[in-house]
Amino acid sequence: MSAAERVPVAVLISGRGSNMGALVAASQEPDFPARIVCVISDKADAAGLAHAREQGIEAVAVPRRDYPSKAEHEAAVIATIEASGARIIALAGYMRLLSADFVRRYAGRMINIHPSLLPAFPGLATHERALAAGCRVHGCTVHFVTEGMDEGPIIEQEAIRVVPDDTADTLAARVLAAEHRIYPRALAMLARGEVRMGSGGRTVHKVPSGD
Ligand code: GRF
Repeated sequence: MSAAERVPVAVLISGRGSNMGALVAASQEPDFPARIVCVISDKADAAGLAHAREQGIEAVAVPRRDYPSKAEHEAAVIATIEASGARIIALAGYMRLLSADFVRRYAGRMINIHPSLLPAFPGLATHERALAAGCRVHGCTVHFVTEGMDEGPIIEQEAIRVVPDDTADTLAARVLAAEHRIYPRALAMLARGEVRMGSGGRTVHKVPSGD
């Protein structure tokens, strides 16, 4: 697949960037339908920025503290996205709540990875909460981003079995490995037009016609 045929994607991060790395690695496969054109971090010292640069990807820090207001910070992030030509936005550990305007601008084109089987455990400390609740399975979700935090239509999930000696750290490590599997898959589905954000909080999956 030529570069022109692949959908350009911007990835927003705040830290480690291992999911961003998984998307970059997948996009280096010859048939992957998307290419990462830009990585943006709200933290100048995010480790993921250096990793992206090593891969030859434009990596830009847009630190929140450089802007007097949330609106001006978001305007700078949007300007960076638009300058990159990205058509899809992938949030990968981006630790900021986006405004309704931002979310609406990219409705149906912005996705997020979350470390739980949504709608269980939106928010933070998902692994601790899954263990405290006595869950036998846990996992991760890729979903469209809507105005409600971690509430958008689900695109892809993977379940992980909780084992007796699990700690939040051991569980997090297995969930993270699953995140790295489902995020590239979900991005590919969106880039190929196999999923779209439907009304009523559900993702519409295009059913293969079989002919
Ligand atoms: C991941 O667990 C992701 O699900 C959550 O934030 C974490 C980011 O990790 N949204 P990384 O920066 O991708 O390594």
